[in-house]
Amino acid sequence: MINPVARAARAVIARASERQRPEPLRPEPRRVPDAGQILSALSVPVVMLDAENRFRYVNHAAEQFLGISAVQLAAHRLTDLVPPDNPLFLLVDQVRRSEATVSDHELTLDGPRLHKPGIAVQGSPLPEEPGAVLLVLQDASAARALDRQLTFRSAARSVSGMAAILAHEVKNPLSGIRGAAQLLETSVGPDDRELAVLIRDEADRIRDLVDRMEIFGEKPVARTAVNIHRVLEHVRKLAQSGFAAHIRFQEVYDPSLPPVWGNRDQLVQVVLNLVKNAAEAVTYADQMNPEIVLSTAYQHGMRLAVPGSTERVELPLTVAVRDNGPGIPDDIHPHLFEPFVSSKTSGSGLGLALVAKLMGDHGGLIEVDSRPGRTEFRLHLPVLSERDAEFSDA
Ligand SMILES: Nc1ncnc2c1ncn2[C@@H]1O[C@H](COP(=O)(O)OP(=O)(O)OP(=O)(O)O)[C@@H](O)[C@H]1O
Ligand SMILES: [Mg+2]
Repeated sequence: MINPVARAARAVIARASERQRPEPLRPEPRRVPDAGQILSALSVPVVMLDAENRFRYVNHAAEQFLGISAVQLAAHRLTDLVPPDNPLFLLVDQVRRSEATVSDHELTLDGPRLHKPGIAVQGSPLPEEPGAVLLVLQDASAARALDRQLTFRSAARSVSGMAAILAHEVKNPLSGIRGAAQLLETSVGPDDRELAVLIRDEADRIRDLVDRMEIFGEKPVARTAVNIHRVLEHVRKLAQSGFAAHIRFQEVYDPSLPPVWGNRDQLVQVVLNLVKNAAEAVTYADQMNPEIVLSTAYQHGMRLAVPGSTERVELPLTVAVRDNGPGIPDDIHPHLFEPFVSSKTSGSGLGLALVAKLMGDHGGLIEVDSRPGRTEFRLHLPVLSERDAEFSDA
């Protein structure tokens, strides 16, 4: 497959050579933007080297990335920026020899006027220009930030094993303890009865906790096409008729969103946990004008590499829950999605661990932005694909 950037660059060269020929007469089709303009507008740095590694073309993003203007670069070779033993030269050589696209993900471009660690580079040949190599450079740190979010899934997964053990090993003896305490309540004197009630209440509390943990178990779930706006509406009504009655809600929805391929009850649980946290945050902080904003959007091009696999997933549907509370405490932030992490006296710290687990099960992703006065949790979800729709009709 021809790299689209290589195709655009080829078009630039083709146009340059066309200018020397007389223009043939042909009907004027719809105006197509100049490929050079497209390359300039591209936010990804693109560099074209000639056979002697001179800079033949750089787009605006590449000028910024390298910190040198195109005019200056025109008088330079790649060796002026990075030393010849840099692995980038190996990649460029490989492209020339194999006449195929070569990629590297963790290059450090280190030279007298450049220090760029963690750079992903894709090199492609330009068959029309013998020896020329097109380089597409990308700072991989942004992609890594997203990949890090994916690791939250594994934190939640470690809970699933524990949940299964707890359900097995704790729940059965617990019901025995509870039953025995109940029997004692009727047969002991008033002083000891108080103790028997205490045992029963505590057994109930442990059972509730185990019940919550059980949701982490790896059970297959039924998926259908889910209208995410109905999910959000449902949670808002639940919240406003109970724990968030005093909070103003604002809804900013994109009505044209396609359905999510998921489990409605689990998606309700995810949004409910986020809204509950948001409500608790504004309430504990005594925020004068507490507000929660629910929003949805369709984001093209939200594609992610799944760590450890060559698969890429597209997650175009975004659901955000934002509050104007005090922000996530600094000491909690790095462990936010781990189980039993809580800053609340009565919190079990399972809410967000469950959100991470359910989002992982849905093939989705969760991101957080938090500062005092503005905390936003963003869910990225896959939409219903044609293949899923076939299954859903079956
Ligand atoms: N919107 C938010 N604003 C500020 N801090 C938050 C917000 N959401 C979560 N947190 C922080 O993250 C912690 C973990 O949240 P999580 O929902 O996992 O547990 P919890 O709310 O403490 O307890 P549980 O949900 O089990 O009742 C919270 O205790 C809080 O410190
Ligand atoms: Mg919570």
